[in-house]
Amino acid sequence: MAFKHWPIVRDLRFAQKAGRYLRGARKRRPDLNWAEFRRVAQHFKVDDMGSFPERGYLFQLASDAPADAQVLEVGSWMGASTCFLAAGLKGPAARIYAVDNFQGLSTCGEDAAWYNRHFQKLGANSTLEIFRQNFSDLGFALRAEPVVSDSLAAAQKLAALRGTIDLIFIDGDHSYDACKADIIAWAPFVKRGGVIAFHDFGSRADGVTRAIFEETKAGRFAEIVGVAGTIIAFRM
Ligand SMILES: C[S@@+](CC[C@H](N)C(=O)[O-])C[C@H]1O[C@@H](n2cnc3c(N)ncnc32)[C@H](O)[C@@H]1O
Repeated sequence: MAFKHWPIVRDLRFAQKAGRYLRGARKRRPDLNWAEFRRVAQHFKVDDMGSFPERGYLFQLASDAPADAQVLEVGSWMGASTCFLAAGLKGPAARIYAVDNFQGLSTCGEDAAWYNRHFQKLGANSTLEIFRQNFSDLGFALRAEPVVSDSLAAAQKLAALRGTIDLIFIDGDHSYDACKADIIAWAPFVKRGGVIAFHDFGSRADGVTRAIFEETKAGRFAEIVGVAGTIIAFRM
């Protein structure tokens, strides 16, 4: 086992990184429940899908959503980003629709190779049970509505929700065509004044950056809400 995976080394690195991030976050947003954020981060100590600033920003966006907010995520994987969103929500009717094929089926070649390796190691062909377990371990099960589907097929199935969603987070297929199609399919689901956020803007996934850039120039979004790491959020 590599040195960095030894439990004691992993715990020490987590404590250092969490401490550093939370000192700044508590100063910036003293009104948010950072103890709840830390509880979720502790659960996902080994998290290769997002940095502290990115996870903290999702938590912040969800915390800033109204009570009983309806949230939708495209690309949930094992539920880490979904749980950071769930942690910020308030109200008994708050829900997160988690749209994913849970099989890493993606048209983005680089991602597909990564998922293949991952599923081989996992010895399974879906992350849905891991997603459910993470949600239930953290006590969020009632907030999750997994939608096991291809993204564009889900946008058709959920058409009744158009114009009702407070916050959407898109982190699915990272190819240019797929990201562009996701923006076109999902943006109409966001309420007026609601937020749509994307992962991997300005990352090595240059198709994502290009699609978001083009849609911004075309006037798809009303204004930029904020940026953290490679997450960019817009108001509709
Ligand atoms: C980068 S991972 C999501 C990571 C997660 N948001 C996080 O931060 O913890 C991308 C996910 O998108 C899913 N995905 C890729 N293309 C998809 C598509 N066309 N429809 C539905 N899900 C898709 C994959 O199965 C994978 O779980």
